[in-house]
Amino acid sequence: MDSLIVRGGHRLDGTLRASGSKNAALPIMAATLLAQGACHLERIPVLRDIATMLTLLSSLGATVSRAADGAVRIECDQACEVTAPYDLVKTMRASILVLGPLLARHGKAAVSFPGGCAIGSRPVDLHIQALEAMGAAISVEGGYILAEAPHGLVGTDFTFDITTVGGTENAVMAASLANGTTVLRNVAREPEIIDLVQFLRSMGADIAGEGTEMLTIRGVPCLTGGTYSVMPDRIEVGTYLVAAAATGGRVRMTDIDPSVLGVITDKLRSAGASVREGEQWVECEMDGKRPQAVDVTTEPFPGFPTDMQAQFTALNAIAQGEARVTETVFENRLMQAHEMRRMGAHIVIEGNTAIISGQPSLQGAPVMASDLRASASLVIAGLVASGETRIDRIYHIDRGYENIEGNLQSLGADIQRVSG
Ligand code: EPU
Repeated sequence: MDSLIVRGGHRLDGTLRASGSKNAALPIMAATLLAQGACHLERIPVLRDIATMLTLLSSLGATVSRAADGAVRIECDQACEVTAPYDLVKTMRASILVLGPLLARHGKAAVSFPGGCAIGSRPVDLHIQALEAMGAAISVEGGYILAEAPHGLVGTDFTFDITTVGGTENAVMAASLANGTTVLRNVAREPEIIDLVQFLRSMGADIAGEGTEMLTIRGVPCLTGGTYSVMPDRIEVGTYLVAAAATGGRVRMTDIDPSVLGVITDKLRSAGASVREGEQWVECEMDGKRPQAVDVTTEPFPGFPTDMQAQFTALNAIAQGEARVTETVFENRLMQAHEMRRMGAHIVIEGNTAIISGQPSLQGAPVMASDLRASASLVIAGLVASGETRIDRIYHIDRGYENIEGNLQSLGADIQRVSG
């Protein structure tokens, strides 16, 4: 298994191009199951989770290929299989995103029930409720969610009890081919949902309300393929900006509309960074200063994203002052704190809050990645620590960060990937 070796103490300085968004690409790839005709998807990042989704689509009978420029072609005309097997779903929970499209296209689907994961129990009850409201009969047998709607899905008026990104995505994809109009209320408003809706619309779907709490979907008989470019990854961009702030450096990210970063840039400014924005770039500069502690509480969009919480925990670990970092979206997403303590961070966990007393420095240590964003936060901690930090289990990081060591090296970091 690969590890990352980081020797801290270098200020990051340089420019990177933002990758395509993992969390937009995954539902968009699942949505190709709805299309008649080939879909050409541009700016699909080269990541482990993307490879898993391509394998899943192939196993369902899709023809998939990746061009040298990173674009992916997916054609699902011959995709007649309706089972998403345990072996794939267990490696990537986002496999659940094929449930709605398979059901809408074929009238049936069997998707292995995703279990809990390191960051929480992550049930899919709301995905199921929304599809049941559209007339699907759903049962769980042998570890699989079995869904049937032999006469097609029907439009409905459904309110999500809590805001769910994946649940909204499954429901909107399914409703696109339903008979009649579906109104979905209390939906997620994340930019990745907007990207999915724009992709579905480019295929011929009739959807209104993306970015608000209510989506109205008028079902259409069929959707067609086409070409679409996926939005940039706001979490990848945010991660590199935090790394710049933590190391006292300067990083410019290009090919991104900075408005999608929302509160992430506000929090960086509160930490003392100067954040400049252009039409398609954003730059964070710390000018050698130590960051100020900054409180964050995670919330669904437009609140502070849970996917940036661990990175701000690392920033606060070396900041001036005391910060409270509260996680409200997932029940078990403060695990990085325990590993950071091994590096000299002063963090006390009270319920779902990490109380962090910033230290002037951290010390390198062997640490273990527990999930994707926790891994990224340990890399940031390693970049500011004295001596060597070895981060094990970095397959987590390869799920969501394209070429992280190459990118950080280009910014001046001392980081290497080692095998075994
Ligand atoms: N929830 C339920 N029932 C459901 C669905 C969700 O109780 O049926 C709960 C979850 O357990 C959680 C909360 O609702 O406590 C929010 O979960 P949500 O469904 O919004 O998350 P998700 O769709 O499983 C996506 C991202 C995550 C990101 C969250 C929140 C993808 C592939 N994953 O997950 O990304 O943290 O939204 O923004 O888009 C990551 O990239 O590291 C990552 C974990």
